[in-house]
Amino acid sequence: MPPFKREDYVTTHEVEISHLEDHIHVTPGEVLVPLPDLEKNVKRRTFFMNFTHVIGFLIGLPIAYPILRYLMKPMYAAFDNQWLNVGNVSQIKKEDVGVQFEYKKKVKEVYMPEYEVEKNVWVVRATPELLEKVYQGKDEEFRDSKGTVIWTNKKEIPYVAFSGKCPHLGCAYKWRNHKALGPVFLCPCHLSIYDAAGNVLDGPAPRALDALPVRVSAGGEVEIIDMEFKAGTKAQVRIV
Ligand code: FES
Repeated sequence: MPPFKREDYVTTHEVEISHLEDHIHVTPGEVLVPLPDLEKNVKRRTFFMNFTHVIGFLIGLPIAYPILRYLMKPMYAAFDNQWLNVGNVSQIKKEDVGVQFEYKKKVKEVYMPEYEVEKNVWVVRATPELLEKVYQGKDEEFRDSKGTVIWTNKKEIPYVAFSGKCPHLGCAYKWRNHKALGPVFLCPCHLSIYDAAGNVLDGPAPRALDALPVRVSAGGEVEIIDMEFKAGTKAQVRIV
């Protein structure tokens, strides 16, 4: 009879082989039965199990791929770069003053039906001095998701549009008269303060207000491309 080894047996409460207890250690209450051959050869069993998984994966892949591609399509959708009419410049009565333009935008999110959201931008008719502060002598380019330039705000065009979301955490801000600083853009959430050129004067905002592509027609209609940027980052990262 071959020598008894402890690892060749498993514990059970169903079958008792009493003669084994004379040859190997058994704790009181423990009952032993021989370990099946398949249980002993774990490496071989694991190999066949993994092999079955790989075969199953290869068979399932052609079925799963189109479904996954359909589900993930919205993640790789191009940015919406359509121009939206937000109002007429006749609403702006003074230079270097923030004027809020409200508009509605149709939004289609993933697999939900299309719906409308109310949004706003701030438009400033800027003096040459303010334009210099906004553009610092350079035109501003805007790009699509592939990095192609889709529009350039020219530094001499006097209309500047800012996204209605504060770059700190995305709250709505207002044009207010500050006791010490005079007229400013003020965000009530954490008291970030920006001048009329969008530059940060105070508060936790990590960057200037986000300027948007803007154009004004011969009839004075103001159009913008509605873009959204990541909040809370120093760099301006477009997300919509
Ligand atoms: S969201 Fe505007 S200051 Fe925080």
